[in-house]
Parts: sequence; structure tokens; C-alpha cells
Amino acid sequence: SHSEPITIVEVGPRDGLQNEKGVIPVSVKAELINRLAQTGLRNIEAGSFVSPKWVPQMAGTAEVISIIQRLPNVQYSVLVPNSKGLDGLLALLPTHSPDSSAPPPPPISEVAIFTAATDAFALANTNTTVAASLERLAPVASAATANGLRVRGYVSVAVTCPYSGKVDPVRVREVTSELVNIGCYEVSLGDTVGTGTPATVGEMIEEVKKSVPVEKLAGHFHDTYGTGVANVLASLRHGIRTIDASVGGLGGCPYSPGATGNVATEDVLYALQGSEYDVRHIDLGKVAEVGWWISEVLGRQNTSRAGRALWAR
Ligand code: HMG
Ligand code: MG
Repeated sequence: SHSEPITIVEVGPRDGLQNEKGVIPVSVKAELINRLAQTGLRNIEAGSFVSPKWVPQMAGTAEVISIIQRLPNVQYSVLVPNSKGLDGLLALLPTHSPDSSAPPPPPISEVAIFTAATDAFALANTNTTVAASLERLAPVASAATANGLRVRGYVSVAVTCPYSGKVDPVRVREVTSELVNIGCYEVSLGDTVGTGTPATVGEMIEEVKKSVPVEKLAGHFHDTYGTGVANVLASLRHGIRTIDASVGGLGGCPYSPGATGNVATEDVLYALQGSEYDVRHIDLGKVAEVGWWISEVLGRQNTSRAGRALWAR
């Protein structure tokens, strides 16, 4: 039967680890990325170059991406909030005259920039309004593109805002459009709080599709209410083919109180088995092993239902 390949963007090393309480050694972060790259996952968000005062957990990203293995079939990306973040990354990438005795440069081929559908959330997360953040991000996107990096965008609080409640899908459409206009090849629609349902997520996607081709959209669901997998399936039915997920269900946003981790990568892979959406290039068993490994290392509960069930077998 006809099946279509689905892209899974593994965000555990960034969205997952940014919300952990304890200090995570650089070596653990790098090992997580290396283990994930061995599972068949082709897109891994490896960390972020944000202010360590705002998100201390991501402070070691420069070191992390300098020591990870480079697998040729994997696209590695990092999140940047401003030019300072992009400059931090560019400083690690090869210059015009590569010195053959120098260590190989980090394998980063993509940056992710982020804004929100509400001013209240943008202010809490990045200390600016949505409009001001887009102004700040436009030159970041051009500079990244000029340096050969792909630029991905995120719209946070695409369904509900922890500070201002239900979000108007029209606003999500406008902000998504702006991110495409400033150079994003893809925009990930973030249900940051995880209140979305197939109905509200579907309504939001249909509205965004009025201005942005669905090929440029991705779905990013937090699993707070247990609707993560349902929302993934709903977004696939609405035409989306790229899904963000986090191994072991790691994660949460420090500026979204009470929100839990992303939909677990294992749960998404399990749910898509045998469907018309093809994820066979990714080894569910191996991802589940990584989920258990990182949960044990962090001393946290593995919140992936499929991961737990596979382990118990
Ligand atoms: P600010 O305080 O307005 O900025 O923060 P500032 O320019 O005044 O800088 C404050 C300090 O941070 C300065 O240091 C800067 O140098 C430094 P000081 O002079 O005081 O020593 N700084 C930086 N350091 C390292 N890297 C940088 C950087 N920029 C400034 N890039 C700022 C504004 C945007 C920097 C801050 O608000 C910030 O870093 N926010 C990031 C918050 C964050 O990472 N949130 C989580 C990621 S988004 C998310 O999780 C949602 C998503 O998953 C989708 C979804 O679920 O919806 C993507
Ligand atoms: Mg998120």
C-alpha cells in the first residue's frame, strides 16, 4: 500500500534537557545526541545558544556540539534567540581557510529561531513583544542563510497561552507567515502548554494553511493532557509531514508553568507503525533504549508509554 515518509525532529537534547532541574554534564548531553543519531533519526535539535541567565541548562551547548560525532545522514540544529546566539554558533563553524590540523567543525546545518502567537508569552520567554522579536529575528535569519544554514521557525503558544488563555488561530497564521517571509523554510507550530486536542489543533492548522503551504509546517506538541499522539495524527491528517518529538517524553518550557514534556518519540513511532505514514527508517527499539538510558541518568521517570511498555516486555 502507498506510504509517505514522515520526518521526525528529535528535540529531546534541547526542549527536553532545557527544563531539567539539576546540572547535566556536557558529556551526558553529547552522549544523548550520539545515541539518538544511531537510531535512524535524521533530524536532531542539539541545544540552544540562549542567555544562560534565562536558561542555565543550555549553557554548555558550544562544548556539546564541538564534541558530538558527525553522522552524514543526520541534520543537527541549534536554537538561537538573537544575533548573539547566531554569532556564538558561527564562531564554531569553518571559516574561509580551513586549517587541516584543526579539529573538525561542529556538524550544525540549521538554526531554529522562535517567537510566539502572544505578546504575553514572547515577553516571558524572550523579553520582547512578538513584533519586536520578529524585527530582531529578521537579520538573524538573513545572516544564518548567508552562512549556508537552513533556518527553521517556531511559533509558541499556537493553541493556548499560559498568560492570556485561548489563542486566535488567525494570530498563529499571521506570525507563521512572518517567519516564512523572513526566511524560514519551515515553521513548527508549538502547542507549548499542551492543551490542544485534535479539534483545536486541526482548526489552527487549517487557518494557518490559508497563508502558508502545508509543506512548510511542522507540529510540535507537548503532552500535558495526554493528547500528544492524537494531535500528531490529527496534524498528519491535515497534511503536516514533519513532527517534533522528544525521547522519553523529556521536556517542557521553563516559561510555561505546569506544561510537561513533548510528545514522546517512542509513542509517535509506535502509533505510526503499519500506517500510511512511513517512519521505518527509525528503530523504535533503539529509541526506547535511549529513553531508558537518559531517564536513568537524569533520575527522572520515563514518561513514554510505549517506552515503558516495551521495557516491561
Ligand atoms: P534580555 O535579558 O532581554 O537580553 O534577554 P539582553 O540582551 O539584555 O541580555 C541579557 C544577558 O544575556 C547579557 O549578559 C547578554 O550578554 C546575555 P550580561 O551582559 O548581563 O552578562 N545574552 C546571551 N548569552 C548567550 N547567548 C545569547 C545571549 N543573548 C543575550 N544568545 C534573550 C533576551 C532573548 C537573550 C533571553 O530572553 C533569552 O535567552 N531567552 C531564551 C529563553 C528560552 O531559551 N526559552 C526556551 C526555548 S523556546 C521553547 O522552549 C518553545 C519551543 O520549544 C516551542 C514550543 O514548545 O512552543 C521552541
Ligand atoms: Mg517546546
